[in-house]
Amino acid sequence: MDFWLIIRFIFLIILIIFGIFFFIVFILLRIIRKYHKFPIPSFMTRLIDNPIRRKFIQKPEKVAERLKLESGMTVVEIGPGKGSYTKAIAKKVLPEGIVYAIDIQESVINRLKKRIEKENITNIIPKIDDAYNLSFEDESIDRVLMIACLPEIPEPIRALKELKRVLKTDGLISLSEIFPDPDYPRRKTEKKWAEEVGFELEEQFGNWFIYQLNFKIKPKKIN
Ligand SMILES: C[S@@+](CC[C@H](N)C(=O)[O-])C[C@H]1O[C@@H](n2cnc3c(N)ncnc32)[C@H](O)[C@@H]1O
Repeated sequence: MDFWLIIRFIFLIILIIFGIFFFIVFILLRIIRKYHKFPIPSFMTRLIDNPIRRKFIQKPEKVAERLKLESGMTVVEIGPGKGSYTKAIAKKVLPEGIVYAIDIQESVINRLKKRIEKENITNIIPKIDDAYNLSFEDESIDRVLMIACLPEIPEPIRALKELKRVLKTDGLISLSEIFPDPDYPRRKTEKKWAEEVGFELEEQFGNWFIYQLNFKIKPKKIN
């Protein structure tokens, strides 16, 4: 048999084995996370915020652009990870605007504090906070961003109610998800959660694998 044909055949077999392995791991992780939700370890947030994702899959500038940010706005990002998306948002609200980067894990916040100190960024405020019980006033926030974060929270509806409390009446919340995050929900699931709380879809971007949904507060009906 032709040498290169054998090499190609071996390569194909290896590829199939890897594919099956990752598929099984993915299914197992999905089952575990369905019944036992917990914040992903801090080191994992560093792995998922990598150059391939930032350059080819989910560009921070694009995510920020879709938020319709204006200078002077107050933004909250929940679950900022390494902070690449936080930085893109912070740039767009300069010079007066502020981005609060909040996370329930101290290790995530401490790492982000070090990064912004090193890069001399003055309008990002990292702080430990819980999406169920945010330390912000009612109707004080212009934009809320959550990337691969809401489905990780055991009670997403409860968190969304808290987001609605802090959001200004003309504010936006933006939810983004990426497949194959083991917590990945379909768009219609996230839309259903948001509608249940009193949000309505303003705009959607992306596709089945990677999407971003912008919601605004549904205006109250006047009789
Ligand atoms: C998958 S990471 C998101 C990483 C980042 N957004 C990205 O896309 O690279 C989810 C983050 O949400 C945080 N988180 C989970 N539950 C939370 C809660 N109740 N309040 C605030 N943050 C929470 C976790 O600690 C974790 O750092």
